Amino acid sequence: MLFQNARIENAGTCSDIRVLDGRFQAIAPHLDPLPGEETEDLGGKLVLPPFIESHVHLDTCLTAGDPVWNMSGTLFEGIECWAKRKDKLSAQDIRDRVNRAVRMYAKNGVQHIRSHVDVTDPKLTAMETMLQLREELRDVMDIQIVAFPQEGILSYPNGKQLLEDAVRMGADCVGAIPHFEFTREYSVESLNFAMDLAVKYDRLVDVHCDEIDDEASRGLETVAARALELGLRDRVTASHTTAMGSYNNAYVLRLMRLLKMSGINFVSNPLVNTHLQGRADTYPKRRGVTRVKELTAEGINVSFGHDDIFDPWYPMGNGSLRDVVFLGLHVTQMMGYEDIVNAYRFITHNAARTLHLGDGYGIGEGKSADFIVLDAENYYDALVQDAPVLASWKAGRKLAQSAPASGEALF
Ligand code: FE2
Repeated sequence: MLFQNARIENAGTCSDIRVLDGRFQAIAPHLDPLPGEETEDLGGKLVLPPFIESHVHLDTCLTAGDPVWNMSGTLFEGIECWAKRKDKLSAQDIRDRVNRAVRMYAKNGVQHIRSHVDVTDPKLTAMETMLQLREELRDVMDIQIVAFPQEGILSYPNGKQLLEDAVRMGADCVGAIPHFEFTREYSVESLNFAMDLAVKYDRLVDVHCDEIDDEASRGLETVAARALELGLRDRVTASHTTAMGSYNNAYVLRLMRLLKMSGINFVSNPLVNTHLQGRADTYPKRRGVTRVKELTAEGINVSFGHDDIFDPWYPMGNGSLRDVVFLGLHVTQMMGYEDIVNAYRFITHNAARTLHLGDGYGIGEGKSADFIVLDAENYYDALVQDAPVLASWKAGRKLAQSAPASGEALF
């Protein structure tokens, strides 16, 4: 099949793309159709590699208000609400909700998801079901699973064993939540345990790290130091790191050297963290988002994630990463032209590094024909106009489509 007049990644000129046997066979300014070849004129629309959700909790999605609403809007009340909802958790319940959420993502051009899955459950119901769904949905969504100890590794009964069981069952990544552990000592020990587990089972690491406004929450330095010392480096991701927004600058100056040496990735979740953080503040009120602008300027990899979709921690969300980027640019004050037009990288190339997708990701000859078409000529316009994803193609197969935006003033 031949796609004509594609504007690949904000390019000033258009290209034609030939897809054969599910792969990009040729990409050039002009390609003549082969005899009998199907063609589609993209009319100069923006073509990007597929969007990547680098941080979400699929096991909790679409549960807001069931059985109780999070009235304060805090992270910790969210954890209490979820502890009540966990009693009702069943395989069918998870299947129904995850299937709905995956379709929401697919419609919005997402083809890869890293989902954290709560393993502080003696039955590991969610983990078992999510591992099945990872395989069942493989043709339409690439799902990576993090064994996530929501209520702690050392601070939850049998937490170490549950985490290791989940990893042995087949989780792709080891998680941790150092700021939720009872003590500073537990926090450090939990990280040592998680990182050693990743080495033992050859897994990636993604830590819910310092998701709190406490400037004394310093799990990040331990994560980075262990990533460096164990040689895990860019196999490790620090998610949230909102406390970094409260650290003093002298400490960050020293910390930044270690972060660069370690090679770890960061995930920021602007929608959820602007909602959850700053809750103990009156005024001035902190923004609750990590130092995305400064980390990016230092060459450190940062991606953006949704974190939650309509669950005890976040009462909104629709699977569109456009909203994540839109708010992320505002709250981090990354609003220069180049910042905006290139912001798709937070949910494409940068996220691909976080997920360790390797050289197979992206638009290039010989790679799997995975791409999306947006109803705009460049990402700046797509972001401002909330342009729909007209089509999402995976290995040469159309997975989702939307109609162009319509509506007009009648005067
Ligand atoms: Fe999270």
